Amino acid sequence: MNSFRRIEDADFKGKRVLLRVDLNVPMQDGQVADATRIEEVTPTILEIADQGGKVILLSHFGRPKNGPDPKYSLRRVVPEVARIVQRPVAFAEDCIGPTAEAAIAAMKDGDILCLENTRFHPGEEKNDLDFATKLAALGDIFVDDAFSAAHREHAANTSIVTVSGMPAYPGRAMRAELDALAKAFETPQHPVAAIVGGAKISTKLDLLGHLLVKVETLIIGGAMANTFLVALGKKIGKSLVELELVQSARDIMAKAKSLHREIVLPVDVVVAEKLEANVPSRVVGIDQIGDGDMILDIGPRTVEHVVSVLARTKTLVWNGPFGAFEVEPFDNGTTAVAEAVAELTTAGKLVSFAGGGDTVAALNVAGVTLRLSHVSTAGGAFLESLEGKTLPGVKVLRLNGG
Ligand code: 3PG
Ligand code: MG
Repeated sequence: MNSFRRIEDADFKGKRVLLRVDLNVPMQDGQVADATRIEEVTPTILEIADQGGKVILLSHFGRPKNGPDPKYSLRRVVPEVARIVQRPVAFAEDCIGPTAEAAIAAMKDGDILCLENTRFHPGEEKNDLDFATKLAALGDIFVDDAFSAAHREHAANTSIVTVSGMPAYPGRAMRAELDALAKAFETPQHPVAAIVGGAKISTKLDLLGHLLVKVETLIIGGAMANTFLVALGKKIGKSLVELELVQSARDIMAKAKSLHREIVLPVDVVVAEKLEANVPSRVVGIDQIGDGDMILDIGPRTVEHVVSVLARTKTLVWNGPFGAFEVEPFDNGTTAVAEAVAELTTAGKLVSFAGGGDTVAALNVAGVTLRLSHVSTAGGAFLESLEGKTLPGVKVLRLNGG
């Protein structure tokens, strides 16, 4: 970590500290459904505040398309931040301009303020230099604790630094992520397996091709597996699928074959007529899926097979749940695998790294988060790191710019 500044060496007293965090947390019924990302940045928030820095939280939230939208307001997240840091957290209805300036001018040393969603301005995602200059003008020091957003080349985590030249530091959580990734991917113990699942199929299929080069075994779960099953000619009823990606799935399987990599797909699944809590469901083999069936989880034989693969694995990288884990009982498959991963890790037989908002939530449901080697709160940033990409948000924090 020699090439990064260390917050231990910073002097925050009386300074306006722009702290980039990732408050893009899952919500349910207007409430924060999983606060892991808030908990992770709490030590950095308190460290700066306790040194008399004015903590100005900068974050995006969701993917608003047309400017301010109450649905994507960070106002709804602020009470949860205040509850977790156990301090008052003020809120400003805009992240630049007079509203933000007035709120910052009213801060005393040690105060905490959260600015409104940076994505309410189109300049954020466009990485617009004028917008970045306006953001940078609000602070004296930049600290980035949002590893999970570091793969986005957006104003509030890249050009905010480059346009201003202000001193930029990785926060505590960012540093922990970078340290763990270095340990995991520079010299992993082989064999390495990856579990890739979840619903963001189209954003991950490309990545699977790259992962194949790095890992001996690729275990595919979640809705993504359905696309592979279709590629194998299976009937999947009403299950979620991306038909336009079936050819990509075929290409990945062909590549796996030529590289002598193993791809593990479900051999049995839990199906129901619809995704609803405690709806009647049954276990079927992948050749018995009916027209009205929807695949919502992996079945017990698949769990057994995955666990047997993990028993001969030394390093595991996991992103994405196996089933619709947020709806009971479709969390069973993910939970069973998670428990096996935790046991193997605790026994010293497996080094386990997991990442992704949904993955973290699923591991929390399973209650095993603390028993894995490292759990990253990042999704895309975690996987892009695994691909060996340099994340733009990490690059600007390096002292040598590289
Ligand atoms: C995430 O949750 O993946 C990060 O906060 C980045 O959000 P994005 O995928 O909408 O850019
Ligand atoms: Mg994302």
